[in-house]
Amino acid sequence: MTDPRLAALAARLPDLRLLTDPADLEHYGRDWTRRWPPAPLAVALPGNLDEVQGIVRWANEHRVAVVPSGGRTGLSGGAVAAHGELVLSLERMNRALGFDPVDRTLRVQAGMPLQAVQEAARAHGLVYPVDFAARGSCSIGGNIATNAGGIRVIRYGNTREWIAGLTVVAGNGEVLELNRGLVKNSSGYDLRQLMIGSEGTLGVVVEALLKLAEPPPPSQVMLLALPDMDALMRVFALFRARLALQAFEFFTDAALRHVLAHGAQRALEGEHPYYVVAEFDAAGEAAQQAALEAFEEGVNRGWIADGAIAQSEAQAAALWRLREGITESLAPHRPYKNDVSVRIGAVPAFLHAMQALLAREYPQFEVVWFGHIGDGNLHINVLKPEALADADFIAQCEHVTRLLAATLREHGGSISAEHGIGLVKKPYLEGTRSAAEIALMRGVRQVFDPNGILNPGKLF
Ligand code: MLT
Ligand code: ZN
Repeated sequence: MTDPRLAALAARLPDLRLLTDPADLEHYGRDWTRRWPPAPLAVALPGNLDEVQGIVRWANEHRVAVVPSGGRTGLSGGAVAAHGELVLSLERMNRALGFDPVDRTLRVQAGMPLQAVQEAARAHGLVYPVDFAARGSCSIGGNIATNAGGIRVIRYGNTREWIAGLTVVAGNGEVLELNRGLVKNSSGYDLRQLMIGSEGTLGVVVEALLKLAEPPPPSQVMLLALPDMDALMRVFALFRARLALQAFEFFTDAALRHVLAHGAQRALEGEHPYYVVAEFDAAGEAAQQAALEAFEEGVNRGWIADGAIAQSEAQAAALWRLREGITESLAPHRPYKNDVSVRIGAVPAFLHAMQALLAREYPQFEVVWFGHIGDGNLHINVLKPEALADADFIAQCEHVTRLLAATLREHGGSISAEHGIGLVKKPYLEGTRSAAEIALMRGVRQVFDPNGILNPGKLF
């Protein structure tokens, strides 16, 4: 260790795994944004709570910035280390620590991948219901740091609904045991909830106590083709009134083209501008009949142009792939990503305003929409033309994001629904949160992390 700060860290924590190899710095310094060249000082891979606390205390003493790091699948730059920070990866702390059948909770280490959490819950006959396409790569700690949402929010809510307790090392080096699994706890501020969605700026999540749910009843998956944008929320209202929805996701013809080119199977003939993948409870004939009737009513009213219903698990997976494969299929085009939300009731007016804005401002770019429309959450991806330099592309996208932020403000929406603010959306936070709110948020950060050690430059 030639850097004296790292030598001090190694001396303080002799068993700590520290990486300084350039390939490791490159690997751990990036997230899925791929926008900022990684340049961390080193990567620490602690194996236990004491080591995490030792790192944070060392960072305070030496004034070294720390970037908490999970699966780095984030899309807002929250896990980027581009300025000589220490990456604190929870990767080695990836185990389930215990199941409580009475409380129906699962204690896990923060580095456990979401999919492994889901499998561990299933092994106990229950489910951890937060779910999204990055399940195999993202970590539960990262999900907590961003209050991740995904494809089943409509039924189960965001990550914050499923956290019964957290073990955290705060930015000042204190270990906090937050809520300890209590169902009722009316004893002042809920610091657990403050930690969730704080993007690693208040503390490092080391362990989480997760609530588990009953498995949902058997379900069916439908693909719907819609003739126009107005049909989207009409079909949503119809399906929500008649069926017990588990998911209601939409994408455009452009998204479908990319996902098909990436190997997914076409499920419907013909071309349609909008598509929905809907999943709903379908135990028994009555539920299946209700689904058919809702579908027929949508067709009769001219809101549904075509549809397919999965007849097997394989077919259901193939329909889901049309939606879940979109992110991967767009990745080679280096998309500029927007992840916005408005109230569900405000979606139709917002969609129209946004469509007009994008047509006016982005005629030169291919724009791909998809997302969790049943939650009022839209992903607007702008694809980079090959010939355009990165910096020019980003500058043009940022110009339009400013306009988009203003449109969101008019509709009472948020510039980040589920990806977080990180670096990418930092310039637009003021459009979503008031000056008074941001001042209080800065004050909170100061209390938890007086030296500004954790994830500096992110969020604010
Ligand atoms: C999704 O909904 O697929 C994720 O939020 C990822 C993305 O927006 O690309
Ligand atoms: Zn999403």
